[in-house]
Amino acid sequence: MTELADAPASSDVEDRVAFEVNGEPVTVRRSHPHLLAALREELDITSPKDGCSPSGQCGCCTVFVDGKAIVACQCDMDKVEGSSVVTLEGVDEAERQRFADAFAACGGLQCGFCIPGIVMRAKAQIDKKGTALTREAMAPHLGAHLCRCTGYVKILDAIEAVAQGTACSPSLAAEVGAGGAKYEAAPLTLGDRGYIDDIRIPGMLHAALHLTEHARADIVAIDTSAACEATGVDAVLTADDLPGELRVGLIHKDWPVMIPVGGRTSYAGDVLAIVVADTREHARAAAALVGVTYDVHVPNTDAREALSEIAPLSVWGTDSNVLSTSAYSRGDDVDEVLAASAFTVHETFRTQRIEHAFLEPESTVAAPSGEDGNRTLHVYSGGQGVWDDRNDIAAVLDVDPSRITVELVSNGGAFGGKEDMSNQAQTALAAWKLGRPVKCTLSREESMRMHAKRHPIELEYWAGCDADGRLTALKVRGIGDSGAYASVGMKVLERAAGHACGPYRWQALDIETIAVRTNNLVCGAFRGFGANQAQFAMEGVIDRLAAQVGISGWEMRKRNVIRPGDEWGPGQIMDEGAGGAEACLDEIRAVYDEAVASGKAVGLGLGLKNSGLGNGFREVSKAVVRFLAGEGATPGRVEVRHGWTEMGQGVHTVALQVAAQELGVDPDRIDVIVDTTRELGFGQTTGSRGTLMVAGSVSSAAAAALDGGCEIGVDYEGEYVVDWTQKLGDPSVANPTIHAVFSYAAQLVIADPDTGDIEKVVAVHDVGRAVNPTLVEGQVEGSVHMGLGYALSEEFPTDPETGFPTNTTLRSLGILRAKDVPEIEVRLVEVPQPRSPFGIKGVGEIGLVPTAPAVAAALHAVDGDWRTVLPMRRSS
Ligand code: FES
Ligand code: FES
Repeated sequence: MTELADAPASSDVEDRVAFEVNGEPVTVRRSHPHLLAALREELDITSPKDGCSPSGQCGCCTVFVDGKAIVACQCDMDKVEGSSVVTLEGVDEAERQRFADAFAACGGLQCGFCIPGIVMRAKAQIDKKGTALTREAMAPHLGAHLCRCTGYVKILDAIEAVAQGTACSPSLAAEVGAGGAKYEAAPLTLGDRGYIDDIRIPGMLHAALHLTEHARADIVAIDTSAACEATGVDAVLTADDLPGELRVGLIHKDWPVMIPVGGRTSYAGDVLAIVVADTREHARAAAALVGVTYDVHVPNTDAREALSEIAPLSVWGTDSNVLSTSAYSRGDDVDEVLAASAFTVHETFRTQRIEHAFLEPESTVAAPSGEDGNRTLHVYSGGQGVWDDRNDIAAVLDVDPSRITVELVSNGGAFGGKEDMSNQAQTALAAWKLGRPVKCTLSREESMRMHAKRHPIELEYWAGCDADGRLTALKVRGIGDSGAYASVGMKVLERAAGHACGPYRWQALDIETIAVRTNNLVCGAFRGFGANQAQFAMEGVIDRLAAQVGISGWEMRKRNVIRPGDEWGPGQIMDEGAGGAEACLDEIRAVYDEAVASGKAVGLGLGLKNSGLGNGFREVSKAVVRFLAGEGATPGRVEVRHGWTEMGQGVHTVALQVAAQELGVDPDRIDVIVDTTRELGFGQTTGSRGTLMVAGSVSSAAAAALDGGCEIGVDYEGEYVVDWTQKLGDPSVANPTIHAVFSYAAQLVIADPDTGDIEKVVAVHDVGRAVNPTLVEGQVEGSVHMGLGYALSEEFPTDPETGFPTNTTLRSLGILRAKDVPEIEVRLVEVPQPRSPFGIKGVGEIGLVPTAPAVAAALHAVDGDWRTVLPMRRSS
């Protein structure tokens, strides 16, 4: 470490800019890169959020300047001079309340990160148009805003309600199955509930990373001298400063925290140094001054070529470019059954890499306590698995894990992209070495380069059916580009293999998928986790076979859909919960028939998605209920503690409703707390399992409290365990239960038969039990929005020469804006899941599994072309 103990602090006498904020005169440093930085970093006004500064493409930082709504990250300090700035903090209290009530009542928010900016934009339009503002008129004005969670449907509901003066009285639901407001909806709407970048600690330093310039290069030398001498710099740390392990990882410890001299980079997100300074700007400026000498090698950027015997190793420290192979077969010889089938299809499908684009870039704060030798570290993380983070940080620092606490801070969206650590270990190292609190927040470009993406997968399908359309045999060969480090890539390709056959019965199967290491961006968990890619292909095959048989897509699915007692793909005997697949099909039939009869171009998709990790993994969730003393006649509050990540999906609300119902307590008395001081969670908040695991453990804790008399101050602990699944492809188990729970969905895409414009999506979902139907609808709407983008326009390509992304702006990703989202109708069916608390199945991921194939079928109905490649239509 190069530490400059006497580094000069920023000058207090530098040039300052005077203006007014929320009616008060202020002055700030002119050196801020834009108004947003001045508001957040110097004035501590944090309702404007930083999702993409300085690019101005997410809308999260929208404020008023001289009465006009603008994005603050695009506003130079010179332009601010003498102006009047209004942020959400300065809006009249009654008006703030109207927005908070409307967004809560309409379910207009999930993670909440985008909402304060959207509220300011909505206020500008309502100020102008009053009650004449409709959702249709508002949608184009959200063109400057991105929301990755909601699909905009309920956001527009809420804005319209405010504009029209509709009375909204949101309340928390007191039981399972009741719609109600999201927990913390009001402070989230108003930007008052802090995210990690909103945390301020006295004496806190700021850190920035220096990332590699080459995806595959030996590191010959790292020169930190210029960075050390830069203004405000306290220290520059490299891999030489790591006291413990170099590598971390969720399954394989193969991901270097920093690449040392003598090491080799493996992808565009590799870190070479962390620079710590008095301000974020100084840290970032100095990080750019770190000099690195590279010996550059040609990267492996083609997964198929990386499999060749002569391909060099993609990843430093590994011994093969094959990360994993997932395979199983069942029934008679597939090639023979295919040869005997009345109709067959042979098709290759290709899906694309996708960026999560959660609106809150990764941020970590690490705060040490105590002296050297006795030091402990408190790390604030927005990750999806704080226990994994704690253990890896302890290994990196070479200390006992008991000295590290990782506190989970509800994040601004994740969708799987915050499972791996991003900057947690480097930030922890800096705080540990310097004995000072350190914050590191990634820029949008760094975020895009560092975290794992959705896998591009090439899937070759051979499938057959008999003359009546009964499915016979299926053979699948899949190759997934997993990028450099393992992350959970092997599990994604395992899940793709498991879901490759869709929710159907087959006589014979032969499935194999391979995860390949390349020097492209790391791929890992992303909502759907391999099921999306596989079922885009599977549903395409079903439609092609239906056309050959001469029956409708709906009829083809009805004849083959999996039912309770059937043997599903990998051999699992399906339980009563599998009735949900047919229930979804039956529910959608009338609207399907009606759309076809009216001459619309129609596409149908049917899908399933596991909830939980399954595959023999023992899954445990614990929760604690604690009654606090009241005051006088006022009853005390009730704490409900659990260990799962709230990332907008509503896991806190689930915990609250379960506790309120089971304890018979007013929900307004309940505080939901993520407790990471004791081992309440078990692994990542992933796989659509948060709802059922939280519901099971909170219900158990509530039962313990009732048994124990609900004594004041006593921790009543409850537990929920899933320990009855088995591994995929284990030849010693004839009928493995690879997953305890599946959810099911049928989606209908209705398009204009002449233009192909998508007019409506009907999404029928079996979630077992909808704990809060409002929130479930919101999850589905957001998923459909994401699924339409996946189908039509989203991609995140890398340059085949370099392995670097070709573009790292939000606008380049092809995410659909509000005006492009068609009508989405959500219908819920409830086929309870046996052995699951309240019959819950989960909804986090299934929502976009059937969307892309339904779009493909609708577009085929328009022009007769079968689609095989995603995205199908790149938008502007
Ligand atoms: S942070 Fe300003 S528009 Fe994204
Ligand atoms: S609620 Fe809009 S990005 Fe999460």
